[in-house]
Amino acid sequence: MKRLLRNLLIVALALVVVLCVIYRVVLSSSTPNEELALDARVTAILEDGGCLSCHIAEPELPFYANFPVVGKLVKQDAQDGYRAYDIAPLVEALKAGVEPSVIDVAKVEKVALDKSMPMAKYYLMHWGSQMTDAKASVVAEWAREFRTEHYNDGLVGERAAEPVRPIVALPEVDARKVKLGFDLFHDTRLSVDNTVSCASCHALDTGGVDNHQYSHGVEERLGGVNAPTVYNAVYNFVQFWDGRAMTLAAQAAGPPLNPVEMASTSFDEIIAKLQADKEFVEAFNAVYPDGLTEANITNAIEEFERTLVTPNSQFDKWLLGDDAALTAEQLRGYELFKENGCATCHAGINLGGESYELMGLRRHYFAERGLELTEEDNGRYKETKQERDRHRFKTPGLRNVALTWPYYHDGTRLTMDEAVRDMARYQCDVELADAEVDAIVSFLYTLTGEYNGVLLTNDNEYGVAIVDDHH
Ligand code: HEC
Ligand code: HEC
Ligand code: HEC
Repeated sequence: MKRLLRNLLIVALALVVVLCVIYRVVLSSSTPNEELALDARVTAILEDGGCLSCHIAEPELPFYANFPVVGKLVKQDAQDGYRAYDIAPLVEALKAGVEPSVIDVAKVEKVALDKSMPMAKYYLMHWGSQMTDAKASVVAEWAREFRTEHYNDGLVGERAAEPVRPIVALPEVDARKVKLGFDLFHDTRLSVDNTVSCASCHALDTGGVDNHQYSHGVEERLGGVNAPTVYNAVYNFVQFWDGRAMTLAAQAAGPPLNPVEMASTSFDEIIAKLQADKEFVEAFNAVYPDGLTEANITNAIEEFERTLVTPNSQFDKWLLGDDAALTAEQLRGYELFKENGCATCHAGINLGGESYELMGLRRHYFAERGLELTEEDNGRYKETKQERDRHRFKTPGLRNVALTWPYYHDGTRLTMDEAVRDMARYQCDVELADAEVDAIVSFLYTLTGEYNGVLLTNDNEYGVAIVDDHH
């Protein structure tokens, strides 16, 4: 009898627990009122989802964060969450009614569709915070609407929702400035000993890169970081791995005076050399009435770089509706690219270049690399001195990536296979099967586009071995 009672009690208790869980998980996860604007509904979903408890610098912690054991776990989650993703800029943008970053949209959409956030241990404790199908579809609708408006690139049907976007319109430029910028880009007089031009490291017929691990400046001086391509740099939100230049013009002021690149001592020195060239000065003054100045020189270079865009890749054709533009393998590669979360950082027109991301987000890249840490490895930290920015880099764009080996800021990955496999490992905590790596790489090949109507190629592709300085 006693035993029966005890069993009944256990069953009753279990029932209560199950009902509670059902209530918390299913019934109480309300979807925001449909009358609200999409932005407001998404804001509510983020607030209800506890996203702000774990993804901002100083979250308001629940009262039990002060309890032993549990409190430690809660604090650890908040710390790990903020390390992985800072949601404050998105929430602020939503509230202020301004455009959010395309990367924020991609990241939140991905965790909503996967229902990976908030994690179960959180929503089981917090009524109504779970990501339901209904909430996820609100987020998806919001992402789609945002992209349609933001890009205005004419994508239709399912493709209107894609996180990766085609190049449809070329940036507007002043042709006369472009011509001057082209000449300056190829002008070795920008360097101290007249041996190195921008094109020495960013040649247009070698994918806009030098295919070296580290670049060689004047007197073969070696830099400490891999040269990114100049193609499509106009789509980056800032320039350089550490984002220290806000514009292409500001960027262009760097290399001429960089001691391991062009090593000129001042722009005055460069201008003095150019002044001696009567023909050039005449052409320059015709476009810039105030003549040769640092600002005008870098302005012309920027104008030229704005033309370095590469539309009409196979992938762009597919996005714009040409189903035959991709093979089944390439399409599968793109699906894997999205499924594994690559398209949360490598999103937008340039498949990157729009956020700073931690290298080694999910596994210790630098500890496992087997090379000493360098100053360059600090990434964005060099600029901000904020501990959170250590090892964060501007995500590189992936257009024409088949031509821009070796890879990563440290140039340590020689092939796309290695770069992709290790991205999955360190950024996504996924070990890809060989066939999956192959598929993703075959997709990446479809990102090679056309410059001035001609498919981009790399003259280094055949013959020249690029392993000289690889250690
Ligand atoms: C209890 C704390 C917690 C809550 C609540 C939470 N997160 Fe997270 N989130 C984390 C942690 C920890 C990670 C990192 C774990 C990992 O490596 O995936 C993470 C990872 C993420 C990432 C992945 C970052 C990337 O680049 O891959 C995104 C995006 C994200 N969360 C968004 C959200 C959103 C949106 C919500 C609300 C719906 C939310 N999180 C709620 C703790 C939390
Ligand atoms: C000696 C080789 C070398 C020369 C010469 C050189 N660069 Fe670079 N360039 C690099 C390297 C290396 C980086 C990456 C540096 C960093 O991020 O700190 C870079 C970065 C850039 C970037 C940023 C791209 C991105 O995705 O962040 C642009 C744009 C660029 N260079 C244009 C130019 C222009 C314009 C000139 C001439 C005024 C020039 N470069 C001269 C090697 C060179
Ligand atoms: C959390 C953000 C993030 C995710 C997720 C991510 N990447 Fe990256 N990716 C980066 C950053 C940052 C770099 C630069 C790392 C460095 O230089 O040390 C990079 C570099 C690359 C490069 C080399 C580009 C170059 O020019 O050097 C390739 C290729 C690449 N990623 C592909 C992928 C693929 C494929 C996936 C998915 C399996 C992926 N990435 C997932 C942020 C991310």
